[in-house]
Amino acid sequence: METRELGRTGEQVPTIGLGTWEIGAYANESERVAQVRALRRGIELGCSLIDTAEVYANGRSEEVVAEAISGQREHVFIASKVSQRHLQRDEVIEACARSLRRLGTTYIDLYQVHWPNPGVPIRETMAGMEELVRTGKIRYVGVSNFSVEQTADARSALAKSELVSNQVEYSLVSRSAEAAVIPYCERERLSVIAYSPLARGRVPVGLIPSEVCDRHRLTPAQVMLNWATRKESVVAIPKSADMRHIEENASAVSVRLSKEEYDAIGTR
Ligand SMILES: NC(=O)c1ccc[n+]([C@@H]2O[C@H](COP(=O)([O-])OP(=O)(O)OC[C@H]3O[C@@H](n4cnc5c(N)ncnc54)[C@H](OP(=O)(O)O)[C@@H]3O)[C@@H](O)[C@H]2O)c1
Repeated sequence: METRELGRTGEQVPTIGLGTWEIGAYANESERVAQVRALRRGIELGCSLIDTAEVYANGRSEEVVAEAISGQREHVFIASKVSQRHLQRDEVIEACARSLRRLGTTYIDLYQVHWPNPGVPIRETMAGMEELVRTGKIRYVGVSNFSVEQTADARSALAKSELVSNQVEYSLVSRSAEAAVIPYCERERLSVIAYSPLARGRVPVGLIPSEVCDRHRLTPAQVMLNWATRKESVVAIPKSADMRHIEENASAVSVRLSKEEYDAIGTR
């Protein structure tokens, strides 16, 4: 699996990770077991960056992740998120403690502010984050759905830690991050974690030239992930609970397209 540096931390994370929205919202035991198996297969294939959040399936996503990483905590990089309803300093610390309990681990690798909340000063939130870093509960601080201005504010609110990433929606059909967020992150060496990189499963086959798929023996979904991660600053976290999709996604960046091919896809 291709890897990328997380921000300027020196830490490598896989270009293709695992999203977990809807994971944990199982209807029965066999569905839960299938979700755990799918995540374990993804980890085995090198998609060891697992993105979850306290709000996903009311915490049950984190519980399914706990089961999937059991016995292999040191081989995975867990990214979770604190809800925008818990952004006061002490709320951040308490939310993290609950996530740690559900995840069955003593630390979260990357803890992200899920959405900005203009009602809470960012200094409050980042004070909670820094306390979590100080006490070893989290390793890195990130944000999600932050504009450039909000990201810059979050960075200056941190006294001792660096902000390492901004998680935003980014795919062939959702490109607004290209206007400002991605250029800013590239310039400042923050990672962009691309969410919904498969357009929530609605792969726009018509936008992806079949000759590119044929030439590289990639499916349209693989080309979509390959395209979304063509820049060094971007990693993607497609979600799948389907073993075949997990395998397909894991080999999406086994080859790289040429600049001309990327450009042709982007302008169709
Ligand atoms: N920070 C935020 O505010 C935010 C917002 C949204 C999402 N996220 C994160 O980003 C992750 C990914 O985003 P997402 O779940 O919204 O959308 P996504 O990854 O773009 O798409 C997921 C959908 O695509 C299907 N799929 C997966 N692999 C496929 C393949 N190879 N071919 C065809 N279909 C495929 C999945 O179905 P199967 O399960 O059947 O494969 C699922 O329905 C989330 O799970 C979550 O961790 C974060």
